[in-house]
Amino acid sequence: MGTDPQPMDSGAPLLTVPVDLGSAAYQVLIGRGALGQLGAQIIKRGFKSGCRVLVVSNAHVSGHYGETVRRSLEHAGLITDFLELEAGEVHKTPATVALIHDRACSHQLERGSLIVALGGGVVGDMAGFAAATWLRGIGVVQVPTTLLAMVDAAIGGKTGVNHAGGKNLIGAFHQPQLVLIDPETLATLPPREVRAGMAEVIKYGVIGDPVLVDSLEERQQLNCLEGIGKSLLLQILRRSAAAKARVVATDEREGSLRAILNYGHTLGHVVETLTGYERYLHGEALAIGMAAAGELSLSLGLWSAQDQQRQLALLERSGLPMAAPDLDGEAIRNCLLRDKKVRDGRVRFILPTGIGSVVIRDDIDLDQAVTALRATNRGS
Ligand code: NAD
Ligand code: GLY
Repeated sequence: MGTDPQPMDSGAPLLTVPVDLGSAAYQVLIGRGALGQLGAQIIKRGFKSGCRVLVVSNAHVSGHYGETVRRSLEHAGLITDFLELEAGEVHKTPATVALIHDRACSHQLERGSLIVALGGGVVGDMAGFAAATWLRGIGVVQVPTTLLAMVDAAIGGKTGVNHAGGKNLIGAFHQPQLVLIDPETLATLPPREVRAGMAEVIKYGVIGDPVLVDSLEERQQLNCLEGIGKSLLLQILRRSAAAKARVVATDEREGSLRAILNYGHTLGHVVETLTGYERYLHGEALAIGMAAAGELSLSLGLWSAQDQQRQLALLERSGLPMAAPDLDGEAIRNCLLRDKKVRDGRVRFILPTGIGSVVIRDDIDLDQAVTALRATNRGS
């Protein structure tokens, strides 16, 4: 990781975070105004002028940033088409991916062509999956525009869509050629989405980056971009990308270590599922899941009340919920048993042991997990 002034005649230097995956290695580039460098950065990665590019986005995002992206791509000589999908998790389906395939066909995307995902995690996951499956796999460049997608979803190659039976059940690992992050795009992101993204940031701190936690603790307000400030935002983007890159480079296909990125997700998913995916954004449910995982660790004597308090204080300063809603115990247990991380009928929990360290445990009594989830509701 480091500041790598890119030899570009236009645009400011970009921070570079490498994702070391051998022949599938790529870079995460971060910097204000990076969007205007998209075309040139694609050419730098071996795509020739005259190459066909399909930009997949939605009307919210494209309305703000589509023109900058189009100009940058066309200036680089790339033959560009745009597809705007309906926004929202409810549209993250195989039917929507079929629309991307239809446009890939009409825009004559070939093996050497490229899909650019311009948007949040929903667009990124679907555009990535379309790229993974069109002609058995073409290139994709991720241009995330939500905080959550910048720090997590755009990096690491998980792509896919939802199935009626559950979230993200259909998918493929397909690493991007490049991840380009322009923090200026966050200026138009709704504040609730900024807060939801902060849950993933706090996750990175608790699972492995005490320095990031220290930096977050220096700010009184983490619930809006103004409170976070520009320099901390850059630090957040760089450290989160580096943390994700480290984990993915070690365990691309989630054989073991990558599971730690699911810290807070196991009980968070229960909350999301049992409230019908309507009450909470993913990051909000994750915040409750992290509070609950902390309670579970506390009850097992794995970490201290002081560390749990530090975690809760960060969630609170980020304006995130921490108390689980009232949920039926049997429904919680059944939902836990359907988690994607279940192996041989045992639920794997990622549990904090200190600020910056976690363990993976598959020997937890599910009743204890139910109690921990309910304990988040103590004061409310
Ligand atoms: P999202 O993609 O639904 O975006 C949230 C909302 O913000 C949308 O309405 C979107 O149109 C709007 N938006 C996006 N950028 C904007 C901008 N700059 N200005 C104004 N509006 C903007 O939500 P998300 O939180 O980014 O992503 C959630 C999805 O990501 C879920 O489907 C989840 O499964 C997936 N995900 C994937 C991974 C992975 O590793 N692949 C990791 C985490 C989450
Ligand atoms: N967001 C979890 C992962 O990428 O593995």
